[in-house]
Amino acid sequence: MNKFLSVGIIIMSLMLFACGPSSNQTQQKGPFLGNGIHNGWADHHSIVIWTRLTARPEGNAIGIKFNDVSKKELKVLNEEANAAHIHKAQIPEGYQLKDMEGACPGAMGEVKLRYCEAGTQNWSTLDWAAVDSLKNYTKQWQLTNLKADTKYIVKIEARKNARSDISDSMLGQFVTPPMSDKAKEIDFCVVTCHDYWRKDTLNGHKIYDSMMDLAPDFYVHTGDVEYYDKPQPWAMTEELMRFKWDRLFALPLQREFWSKTTTYFIKDDHDALMNDAYPGKKYGTVSFERGLDIFDKEQFPSKVLPYQTVRWGKDLQIWLVEGRNFRSKNTLADGSDKSIWGKAQKQWFFNTVKESDATFKVLITPTPILGPDRGVGKDDNHANEAFQHEGDELRTFINEQTNLFICNGDRHWQYVTHFENTNLWEFSCGAGADEHAGGWNEKDRRPQHRFLRVKGGFLRVSIRYEDNKAVIWFRHCDVNGKIVHEEKFFESIM
Ligand SMILES: [Fe+2]
Repeated sequence: MNKFLSVGIIIMSLMLFACGPSSNQTQQKGPFLGNGIHNGWADHHSIVIWTRLTARPEGNAIGIKFNDVSKKELKVLNEEANAAHIHKAQIPEGYQLKDMEGACPGAMGEVKLRYCEAGTQNWSTLDWAAVDSLKNYTKQWQLTNLKADTKYIVKIEARKNARSDISDSMLGQFVTPPMSDKAKEIDFCVVTCHDYWRKDTLNGHKIYDSMMDLAPDFYVHTGDVEYYDKPQPWAMTEELMRFKWDRLFALPLQREFWSKTTTYFIKDDHDALMNDAYPGKKYGTVSFERGLDIFDKEQFPSKVLPYQTVRWGKDLQIWLVEGRNFRSKNTLADGSDKSIWGKAQKQWFFNTVKESDATFKVLITPTPILGPDRGVGKDDNHANEAFQHEGDELRTFINEQTNLFICNGDRHWQYVTHFENTNLWEFSCGAGADEHAGGWNEKDRRPQHRFLRVKGGFLRVSIRYEDNKAVIWFRHCDVNGKIVHEEKFFESIM
């Protein structure tokens, strides 16, 4: 009750402060904060904050549609890798990217960040700094020396230059995790796979509205936040890739949720480069390495090592793993050297899990480890034969642990997989919209399926206390937040 009350008070105070990107503009010239505020990599004492300056307060809702491109033409454009041809084929003559539907072009200018503990006026200020035009007009800050288990308010202001007035401002918020000695109820949500076109409302994906109502302590996006290799437009140049981010980040439901929720973003294949991307791949003019950089260093909050474990109080520790940066080519023969995680990340995972005394441990991975996955044509994840060696190594290790659960993205259907008489449990959160779901026949229910549903939604995980003992709930939700399946575990599952 208290939690909901405090969430309500914060929402009301945010409204009083006129936090919408278009609602506090002293002039209509911009620059604006049309892509909102994102955060990432929160731990007990630090977080990374991200924003971008835009020429307009909102995405272009009534813009022009891209030209359709035939499969044959697409193949030629991809092989030819000529940026001018890729753009000419898709952008109708006489128009520019800024004219297209959803466009939210960037703008030069300066941003200032202030933050304080919620309920205080004890602001710290990071002074005016220019956004980086070489990084799509974005700016990032790392906030340090934060207090654990604390709610913070962030205020970002925008202006053109030192001689201009403030042109826009916005409030955001995040919480830091409680330390390992604090028993605390925690709620988090896990999502995967959505894009601009397969959204179920004009304002964005319903799941963001549903999750906003739950006010989770944090949320994890396990990747495929957008799809470069889908039409309208096929993003075979860096410019088109950025266009897709600008458009998605301007969706009101996403923008509000990301500005107000502690977030961990993981990437997968479609938002790194293309389907099943691995080193050596190229999509149009963009190399695999550039694809990683655009995600890791520009469009999302950055961290030197793109994986992390975070203790969220006495009873929960999460592991967020990276599945693209360190992977072998999918086409290599399987064996002890073939890896998705890479040696260093794998050893880090084994070591940190062994060191942890958290009651419940949750591994959050962009791709499945248990599956089952489709057999034919799939060679991209640990549930596929192409990575069976490392998959077996991980499954053996996880089975030796107590209360270590897997939550995965990537697959466009929801499932709970459990092999009887083992410690192996995997929860697939499913695609972000019903129209994005698919890839598995709902009638193909295997012995390890405790639950199977080929529809969109998200996964909700909660730490609660019963008779002074911690329990963990894994609840699959539909896009409206309705619970469609739940599993509950006590301190020991064997
Ligand atoms: Fe996907």
